[in-house]
Amino acid sequence: MDTPKSKHITWTDSHVTYAMRTERNRHQGAVVWFTGLSGAGKTTLAQLVERELFALGAHCYILDGDNVRHGLNRDLGFSPADRTENIRRIGEVANLMRDSGMICLTAFISPYLADRATARATCPTGSFFEVYCRCDLAECERRDPKGLYQKARAGKIPEFTGISAPYEEPNAPELVLETDRHTPDACAGQVLAMLRERGILVS
Ligand code: ADX
Repeated sequence: MDTPKSKHITWTDSHVTYAMRTERNRHQGAVVWFTGLSGAGKTTLAQLVERELFALGAHCYILDGDNVRHGLNRDLGFSPADRTENIRRIGEVANLMRDSGMICLTAFISPYLADRATARATCPTGSFFEVYCRCDLAECERRDPKGLYQKARAGKIPEFTGISAPYEEPNAPELVLETDRHTPDACAGQVLAMLRERGILVS
């Protein structure tokens, strides 16, 4: 649904502006959107980047698939429609965090191109950074940190991404991290370098 269901609603601006927030934070707000297969390293990398950003004094926070599905999105499963709603809500929350001046890191499979495009469109141009954690399915299955690929192969998890549900690769992500070829620290370093190059971080 593109337009609100409610009628008679009015947008209200705050007295504290985005510019006031970023001047005090000394960095811009942003959404860093990690996408990729389960086991590709999204959570690991978001955590490494968050730790570095925090150490630099930046305001940052991770929205992570498994965690958000315990709360905000506990009513959603893994059907295509539920995944779309999952990503729509996260896109909105991430943009609110960005508007509050934070660097919001998201770690969701987000398997559909159209859903990621919606999340991107929610943010102002230049503030959304799609980071594709590219990793061979075979390597994700070898890692299988939660034992889910094994269960999916055994037919115990329906609609499992990469096995019985699709993953649509990004066409033009801001960054591609080859997580099966480079160390987590090297990949995290690439994200920080990108945030500096794009003017989100000034130091
Ligand atoms: S998304 O497709 O809607 O973006 P999300 O990132 O929120 O997925 O959740 C993915 C996580 O849920 C996986 O890392 C895995 O731990 C768990 N999971 C449980 N069932 C599935 C499934 N059918 N497909 C993918 N991941 C699943």
